[in-house]
Amino acid sequence: MAKVIVLLPIIASHLAIFTLFSAFTTTIVAGADSDFGTTKTQNLYRLKKEKLTHFRFYWHDIYSGPNPTVVPIVNSTIKNSVSGFGFISMMDDPLTLEPQQSSKLVGRAQGLYGAASQEEVGLLMVMNFVFLEGKYNGSTITILGRNKALEKVREMPVISGTGLFRFARGYVEASTHSYNQTSGDAVVEYNAYVLHY
Ligand SMILES: *[C@@H]1O[C@H](CO)[C@@H](O)[C@H](O)[C@H]1NC(C)=O
Ligand SMILES: *[C@@H]1O[C@H](CO)[C@@H](O)[C@H](O)[C@H]1NC(C)=O
Repeated sequence: MAKVIVLLPIIASHLAIFTLFSAFTTTIVAGADSDFGTTKTQNLYRLKKEKLTHFRFYWHDIYSGPNPTVVPIVNSTIKNSVSGFGFISMMDDPLTLEPQQSSKLVGRAQGLYGAASQEEVGLLMVMNFVFLEGKYNGSTITILGRNKALEKVREMPVISGTGLFRFARGYVEASTHSYNQTSGDAVVEYNAYVLHY
């Protein structure tokens, strides 16, 4: 199958791009003799029409072997915790087009996650997805959310981004593709829905 469509961008908007070049007005919020707050109305950053892009890729969180992509950095001091409450791992996980780690690399997930729930498996995920492919190369989105890792589909917010994803917002859906209970290695399918300009 030809891998023509990289990262599966599905642009939900029409290609009509209207840029508002109209002059913006400046309002001094805190009075004429204060520069404490300045609000600029209209299209200060020459933003284009907001669009929705869908990405699908696989996140490889590999503890085992000579080249781990994730390392435990804090161990929990609580013994026999059902949820692992307190542990933290730091990752630099490859993001690939297919479930095989050898498939095309399209980005990296850099950040950390930790067990933030005492009662159940509930991870706090703090990740930057750094894209490496095509026009997205170098742009990032930031995911900050709660991951009940044992559930089939977990939703986490995309809180913003850089580059093409300035002012972005959205969400990801994560679902485990494979998990090795002995090593902790996991491959997770991510579908990201990102509104950006
Ligand atoms: C992405 O950008 C980096 C740095 O500018 C460059 O070295 C690399 O070749 C680019 N990758 C692709 C796939 O375009
Ligand atoms: C799970 O991980 C263990 C330890 O690294 C390894 O020996 C085993 O082969 C792995 N199982 C599978 C199904 O990959």
